[in-house]
Amino acid sequence: MQTVRSVAELEQALSNQTVGFVPTMGYLHRGHLALVERARQENPFVVVSIFVNPLQFGPGEDFERYPRDPERDAKLLAEAGVDLLFLPEASELYPEGFSSYVEVTGPLVERFEGAFRPGHFRGVTTVVAKLFNLVRPCRAYFGEKDYQQLAVIRRMVADLHFGLEVVGVPTVREADGLALSSRNVYLTPEHRRQANGLYRALLAARSVARAGGSVAEAEAAGLRVLREIRDFRLDYFAIADPKTLEPLTDWVEGARGLVAGRFPEVRLIDNMEVYP
Ligand code: PAF
Repeated sequence: MQTVRSVAELEQALSNQTVGFVPTMGYLHRGHLALVERARQENPFVVVSIFVNPLQFGPGEDFERYPRDPERDAKLLAEAGVDLLFLPEASELYPEGFSSYVEVTGPLVERFEGAFRPGHFRGVTTVVAKLFNLVRPCRAYFGEKDYQQLAVIRRMVADLHFGLEVVGVPTVREADGLALSSRNVYLTPEHRRQANGLYRALLAARSVARAGGSVAEAEAAGLRVLREIRDFRLDYFAIADPKTLEPLTDWVEGARGLVAGRFPEVRLIDNMEVYP
């Protein structure tokens, strides 16, 4: 695997390759490796980027302490058969004078994560658009774990004619159901034990849906589980349309349960198809 840090080296290394691309913020886990594996199956050349993007962190969020271990990551990626790792410094992507942004607007970015993390999606779409322009992939791979991010990126790619396929890859979970996330390392042992409550809430909603209950009944079942997680402050739990993320009152195919909230040391999110 070749590692490059500058835009110039990246351009040179990429000439005329058919690329599958996995953008990441590093501190890789099995969820990222599932994206790489899928990219390997579907493309002759796989590029991974590791960049902790300052633009998508709000004031008071965890940009400074976000876990980083590029050496371990590079080893994992080489073992996974990645062809090229792009590992830029912030000054490479945001040189002095940088002042252009890519922003999806409207309810898709305003609700859920957008309401709790103002500016977050603008940071994500700006960096992802830049990376797409640099890497020029045929396909790009994103985890369903960040389901709203996936929907926002699909919107951007369609609206701006990026001409690439966005592939969503199912969430990888720990044995007790907790969705893998680089931020799980922040959890205290006690909160780690409680943290699969998000998954259990989604399962409870899905059980109600499968037993013929209404959307409101499924939401109530999920909320009952979430209220019992000690030390957890809920930001939202809702059942939404899988494409527009509009909150539902009646079931639609693929309806998605979405949940987020905080333990004192970390904010967690999760989601699941709950219907049918
Ligand atoms: O999902 C992530 O890790 C990030 O939001 C992404 C897509 C790499 C953009 O920084």
